Amino acid sequence: MKKLLIANWKMNKKMSEVVDFFYDFKNGYSKKREAWVAPQAIHVQKCSELGYSKDIKTGAQNCSEHVDGAFTGELSPRSFKDIGGDFVIIGHSERRQYFKESSSDCNRKMKTLLREGLVAVYCVGETLQQREDKETLTIISDQLARGLEDLSEASSSNLIIAYEPVWAIGTGKTASPKEAQEVHAFIRQEMKKRFPDFGDKCRILYGGSVKPDNVEELLAQKDIDGGLVGGASLKAKDFLALCGD
Ligand code: PGA
Repeated sequence: MKKLLIANWKMNKKMSEVVDFFYDFKNGYSKKREAWVAPQAIHVQKCSELGYSKDIKTGAQNCSEHVDGAFTGELSPRSFKDIGGDFVIIGHSERRQYFKESSSDCNRKMKTLLREGLVAVYCVGETLQQREDKETLTIISDQLARGLEDLSEASSSNLIIAYEPVWAIGTGKTASPKEAQEVHAFIRQEMKKRFPDFGDKCRILYGGSVKPDNVEELLAQKDIDGGLVGGASLKAKDFLALCGD
């Protein structure tokens, strides 16, 4: 399977910047690696149209666990799919930290996404304090257990895991390839325990200050199947470099 790079644009870019990005990116993109983009929800439809010809999938950065109803201000996964959305990032550390999302909240959202035929990109990762206290694997194991509770093997094929150590996000500090691989191997093992067939195939992405100058070493690790990228995904030139172009 090709390596997968997902651009997480967070709350950035005006429409004109979105259009400029696609123009530049599509000019240089060879599909050597898969490239997906998660813009702000208001730009999903435009990105889906612009990305279609190069098979660039479009995602949201959060969604509701409900598909419709009286939930003012929420993003319906069903309506998102209807306008061309493909995947949703769930449980990003910024959502966990600023919006108090728990792994159980993530679990309900993912069940809805998988039922609706969408891809869920589930983020897990430890804080600096937790790493220093040697709690990394306990935290990851707990986030996986609660987040994936009651998901059947049959429904799991649209699941992607992103390991994002919180201390590496937007800080310029990256986990070393060895540190990242250790956690990825642990996640792989946990996934295989839960999903005997799918566990081996499940894509496990690394996120946290992935840049053109460290991406090759990270992607060379056995259990790192791609990257979830914030800062370095905002410029087409940098994202092209991450995608191997
Ligand atoms: P970063 O963000 O690449 O800017 O560290 C990664 C993320 O938040 O997904």
